[in-house]
Amino acid sequence: MRYRIFPLTLWLVTSAAFAVTEPAIIPLPKSIERREGVCELIPGAIDPGADARPETKAIARFLADRLSERTRQNFHLKSNLDSVKAVELRLAQTQASPESYTLTVKPGHLINIEASDEAGLFYGAQTLLQLLPPDAKGSANLQLPSVQIQDQPRFQWRGLELDVARHFFSTDEVKRLLDEMAMYKLNTFHWHLVDDQGWRIEIKKYPKLTQLGAWRQNVGFGLDPKKATAFGPDGRYGGFYTQADIREVVAYATSRHINIVPEIEMPGHSSAALMAYPQFSCTGGPFTNDLPGGIFDGVFCAGNDGSFKFMEDVLAEVIDLFPGKFIHIGGDEVLTNNWKNCAKCQARMKQEGMHHEMELESYFIRRIEKFIDAHDRRLIGWSEIREGGLAQDAAIMDWAGGAIEAASSGHDVVMSPLKDCYFDHYQSKDIANEPHSIGGYLPLEQVYAFEPIPAKLAPEFRKHILGAQANLWTEYIPSFSHVQYMLFPRICAMAEVVWSPREARDWNSFSHRLEIHYKLFDQLGINYRHPSAPPQQASSAK
Ligand code: ACM
Ligand code: ZN
Repeated sequence: MRYRIFPLTLWLVTSAAFAVTEPAIIPLPKSIERREGVCELIPGAIDPGADARPETKAIARFLADRLSERTRQNFHLKSNLDSVKAVELRLAQTQASPESYTLTVKPGHLINIEASDEAGLFYGAQTLLQLLPPDAKGSANLQLPSVQIQDQPRFQWRGLELDVARHFFSTDEVKRLLDEMAMYKLNTFHWHLVDDQGWRIEIKKYPKLTQLGAWRQNVGFGLDPKKATAFGPDGRYGGFYTQADIREVVAYATSRHINIVPEIEMPGHSSAALMAYPQFSCTGGPFTNDLPGGIFDGVFCAGNDGSFKFMEDVLAEVIDLFPGKFIHIGGDEVLTNNWKNCAKCQARMKQEGMHHEMELESYFIRRIEKFIDAHDRRLIGWSEIREGGLAQDAAIMDWAGGAIEAASSGHDVVMSPLKDCYFDHYQSKDIANEPHSIGGYLPLEQVYAFEPIPAKLAPEFRKHILGAQANLWTEYIPSFSHVQYMLFPRICAMAEVVWSPREARDWNSFSHRLEIHYKLFDQLGINYRHPSAPPQQASSAK
């Protein structure tokens, strides 16, 4: 592994009569070799190669569109008539690892991106876009530094979770977020589609889920309705995605090499579902989704076979909409009071020889896992699905512990610990000058210092740590610009944690590179928090 990185404090090098911006790439590539000379980026064709597959052509078109937007010059997919080539994309038959690429920017004017899969070509294109100066508008014949970059990700799961249940975000906003994730080579969008305060995905067999569960009287959480953006025609707060919307977003994500992991919470956090179908609860209801933050007794009855039939019907439609391998079933923070007092749940426990209600949760998850497995998908759930025994092929998402135990017994794990990955927490201790948040404190430096592999995990089990993700719960985040504010720049730090080699992490280099990215955010209209305050001591959140 080589790190030959040009001194990052030297931002501008004068070459001939032009300023060339030195590379300020985030996440930092595995290897950057700065070469003599500069390359002229001449407006022209992006060449995906003869006989290119449609997916490769799509990347060429994507790159042409982004280059045209950023420079206001004409870049386009190569046609037979073109003579001026700006960039070549080449899929090579190599043994290179998935998602890796080589980007060569040679003196003269040819730029080449080579990879063994389309994801690699796409990431090479994203890196090339980061070689442009933040404001490249109207510059004919831009000069780029001459470099050779070889790059590959450290982890396969580079994620971001967005809660659209507490507050709703439109398909256009979600697509914008996917574009912003792709800029930083994040490849997993965990879409938290349902919770106590809202059900956001159309299920054809159970229309009341969205007719009732997608709308509530108020913005909720004591927030000012004027700061929120999602209202129905009758003034109620909410919204949902039709199945056509979901297909459109999935296709959009696929074109950005992002897999969507849908989350359908069960058996707890289900007040919105049970408001629509109370017959699947222990008490028969009624339930409401006009709820503050917290944990509620909107829990499915685990003694009623009808609850499982309902969940399987819902999951069948979800599986049909989302092509990715993982289906997230939540499983966190289940209040078992209702199960203690329910004759059906108690009968189930007796019949199955169970002594504690947590075993009933395990029963619930195992039964759902059989259904998910039978559809050739894999179940993932929050830390708590371990309690009472983890289903055989299940993966866990560690927010509250359990990674070491799960990985050491052969289960795959995604790291998103509360302390380091909860982007709903404050970014500064000066909370009087921050938008109201759920609490906690997660400064940029702490995200950057986060190490996904638990130190106590034995080396032979490290392969089970698939990666990590940032979680954005939205109780106090009622608009998309606020979403961006909570994400940027912390998501850039998370991107470097999950993509770049562990040994290459360097806070000074990262914070210098970020200065260029703040300018890019200004150009792209991304809302962000500029840490103009002096760096603060990292401390535990909550
Ligand atoms: C969680 O934060 N309850 C997963
Ligand atoms: Zn029950």
